[in-house]
Amino acid sequence: MRVPHDDGPPPPPRPPKGRKRPGERAAEAGASDMSQEPGRAALSPTVAGGEAGESLSLRPQSLAEYVGQAALKRKLEVFVRAARGRDEPLDHTLLHGPPGLGKTTMAHILAHELGVRLHLTSGPAIEHKGVLAGHLTALGPRDVLFIDEIHRLAPTVEESLYSAMEDGRIDLPVGEGTRARTIGFELAPFTLIGATTRTALLSGPLRDRFQIIEAIEFYGDDELAAIVCRTASILGVPVSGAAALEIGRRSRGTPRIANRLIRRVRDFAQVRGARSIELADATAALLELGIDSEGLDMLDRRLLTMIVENFRGGPVGVEALGASLGEPRDTLESVVEPFLLQRGFLLRTSRGRVATMKAARHLGLELPPGWQGALDL
Ligand SMILES: Nc1ncnc2c1ncn2[C@@H]1O[C@H](COP(=O)(O)OP(=O)(O)O)[C@@H](O)[C@H]1O
Ligand SMILES: [Mg+2]
Repeated sequence: MRVPHDDGPPPPPRPPKGRKRPGERAAEAGASDMSQEPGRAALSPTVAGGEAGESLSLRPQSLAEYVGQAALKRKLEVFVRAARGRDEPLDHTLLHGPPGLGKTTMAHILAHELGVRLHLTSGPAIEHKGVLAGHLTALGPRDVLFIDEIHRLAPTVEESLYSAMEDGRIDLPVGEGTRARTIGFELAPFTLIGATTRTALLSGPLRDRFQIIEAIEFYGDDELAAIVCRTASILGVPVSGAAALEIGRRSRGTPRIANRLIRRVRDFAQVRGARSIELADATAALLELGIDSEGLDMLDRRLLTMIVENFRGGPVGVEALGASLGEPRDTLESVVEPFLLQRGFLLRTSRGRVATMKAARHLGLELPPGWQGALDL
């Protein structure tokens, strides 16, 4: 990707003046209302996965409210307490995992638990070094800078980030022509939290500069049921345990999808005049929505059907799949495939994607002659 404005004149760095203690500011801001944060507006249009419409009130505000990811929460809680005890920023942290699993939510929570401000931006929004410098120099001591989709940073921006992360300074060009020179600015000690759906696309040098690297995993059915119940109670709709479990089970292991489904199921139940959501309401609505018993949606089923029927089970390259389905390769790799791989419907091999017999059976498809997909063991 070409970056048209790179090395353009950076905005003048703002000196840290009249800063309050981080805890005070967090308390003042209500610590939860991050929509007031300066970087917020820049983020929304660039975030994939419909995050812009996601209401902040659904986001858990503390580690205790964050459902699931028990091992991750235990570790982060220790790191946060230790950093606070030393009066230091949290070490730079990379969170990776498929979209909708709670990376952005966790960044909000970490800043809250650290008692500092969160500044939000994303890889594609940082168009040149000057924009990065603007973000970095606006940080107060121990604040968190959250860069979503950090794998999409322009290479020159990424390089400036190295010295910021490692030495707490950033070099900026000042002046023009023969008087041009660079000046190094000292930054307040800060935490970078990076989020990515694609660790494989992250450069080695960038990844090496994170001291904490943690995956966020798909959620279990019970955890998703708990998220459905939590969201339903925030929305003020009663939902039966069986209905919540069914919605959770069909949410592709993903809280964002669970939250989306409970809203849609609520619409169906409401229009039918139901007072609460029962199992029958949930299954009827999920059928209408095209979500099957395994939680697969239309695109999941199109992808698997394509491999089974048109490629005799595979292997087929992801580019060819993307072209046949009319979907960008990145969507397939970051959004569609991880869940299918995790559930054993799909395999990734060196020669391409391979469908499993479980996939063919689930879709009710006959194995075509000359099946090249995976065989059951
Ligand atoms: N552990 C969790 N507990 C409860 N709700 C969650 C959890 N993780 C995510 N969510 C909900 O799912 C939605 C998507 O989470 P988000 O942090 O935006 O995902 P990501 O940044 O990984 O794409 C949020 O609205 C949040 O309310
Ligand atoms: Mg996010």
